[in-house]
Amino acid sequence: YRIAVFASGTGSNFQALAEAAAEGRLGGATVELLVCDKPAAPVVGRAERLGIPKHLFVPKQYGSREEYEAEIVAKLEELDIDLVVLAGYMRLLTSVIVDKYAGRLINIHPSLLPAFPGTNAIGQALDYGVKLSGVTVHFVDGGMDTGPIIAQRAIEVAEHETEESFAQAVHAVEQELYPQVVALFAQGRVKLEGRKVTLLKG
Ligand code: GRF
Repeated sequence: YRIAVFASGTGSNFQALAEAAAEGRLGGATVELLVCDKPAAPVVGRAERLGIPKHLFVPKQYGSREEYEAEIVAKLEELDIDLVVLAGYMRLLTSVIVDKYAGRLINIHPSLLPAFPGTNAIGQALDYGVKLSGVTVHFVDGGMDTGPIIAQRAIEVAEHETEESFAQAVHAVEQELYPQVVALFAQGRVKLEGRKVTLLKG
């Protein structure tokens, strides 16, 4: 079972997935490719150290999103990718990828969706004053963080929480949850019917 990870930034989730694969905690899945739209991002160095192939591109050098996504799809097909895993990929996808990988395209978001979609979800949640937030893994559709929900973990906001301390708590949960969910996919245990996702027992 072969996955590709799309990331634009730090890459702590990318790293967690690669380590889980190496340690046999990804249900037999392997990380075959990093797709990154920011060639200078730290995640690129992580892929190099881990020996994972990368597809780097600069969006401004293309006439449209569809053009660079068509190149990405060609790469995904060449590598026979089963599941596309977004991990801090800071761009909306077009139907070129969304339609092609419908049901095989997932994202992780640092809030309990549908609360606080979009960028800076952690800051949005703390500014709002919620006492509980968390992490969501969901299928990707054409919208912004709107696809069917696969798994969620709640995290309480502590009394004197800062954005920094809460981000740390969120990232720790993400790095545990995302490999678990990918393992479920690799084992064929995720069933999608309409908006309803069922996780089958192993
Ligand atoms: C994570 O918080 C993820 O939920 C969000 O972007 C962040 C990526 O962090 N979509 P990293 O690059 O994996 O460290």
